[in-house]
Amino acid sequence: SKPSVLVARAVFPEVLARLAEHFEVSDNQADATWSADELSARLAGRQGVFTTASERIDAALLARCPDLKIAANMAVGYNNFDLDAMSARGVLATNAPDVLTETTADFGFALLMATARRIAESEHYLRAGQWTKWSYDLFAGSDVHGATLGILGMGRIGQGIAKRGAHGFGMNVIYHNRSRLTPELEAECKARYVSKDELLQQADHLVLVLPYSPASHHAIGAAELAQMKPTATLINIARGGIVDDAALAAALKAKRIAAAGLDVFEGEPSVHPELLRVPNVVLTPHIASASVPTRLAMANLAADNLIGYLVHGKPLTPLNAAALNA
Ligand code: GLV
Ligand code: GLV
Repeated sequence: SKPSVLVARAVFPEVLARLAEHFEVSDNQADATWSADELSARLAGRQGVFTTASERIDAALLARCPDLKIAANMAVGYNNFDLDAMSARGVLATNAPDVLTETTADFGFALLMATARRIAESEHYLRAGQWTKWSYDLFAGSDVHGATLGILGMGRIGQGIAKRGAHGFGMNVIYHNRSRLTPELEAECKARYVSKDELLQQADHLVLVLPYSPASHHAIGAAELAQMKPTATLINIARGGIVDDAALAAALKAKRIAAAGLDVFEGEPSVHPELLRVPNVVLTPHIASASVPTRLAMANLAADNLIGYLVHGKPLTPLNAAALNA
């Protein structure tokens, strides 16, 4: 008989149809929000699960789902997975890298530009009927071209943002990362490696693209914000929790930095109430990878991982294959 998989969230019907060619599929096209208990109850007895960044796969769930062999995440980030617990139970984890790199870099740049040039704030003003006359400083913001672009976390998405800034906007690109790029990649990105302190102090626009882990929790808090230029903008397209949102809201309110653009939040979909009150922040609901073709490619990659592993024994983008073979 066919293996059985659970698709934990609503997804493109054509992706469900592909899965149904290979598996007994249980879906959630109503997109109900399940508790951890409900998720593990629905998953019990099944071999595979299609997750998004919202579903947590941890030791407690795994203990209740001994038949599970693979969890395929429709996201590049996978901090919703307890990889050690999954490896210990022999459960393969896969994510969805590469297919979203350029789309996500586009969005990082769009959020940077919207923030620097105050596009959201000025649009709200116009819609509210407050535009009665032109004036010399109406929504005057900061320049993007020629400015210093700082990037914290220089993976594929960070490199995509660096290239856009350097080649498209003549920006001076600096970055900090756990490891340095090769000289070839640094040249391709026209990016210069600096310490985290230099990055904070020199960036006119600072973009965060590092993965979330306990080590990157509150990588940007009050002390880091205090090092930034008062004219600087901060962009977070990485994960909630990398920024201390309460400290950021206080810094924006006090104009210790000029503005922020945020696609991810601590405790999302809740947003810190102070962030909703300050005008100098652009807020979007975790949509950096959300172009139609890219979301479809991410869903297909998650499906291909389930099919590849459960049907052919070969996943496409495994995260813990080495631990399982050991
Ligand atoms: C989205 O946040 C992702 O990790 O793909
Ligand atoms: C992270 O994995 C990235 O692609 O930047």
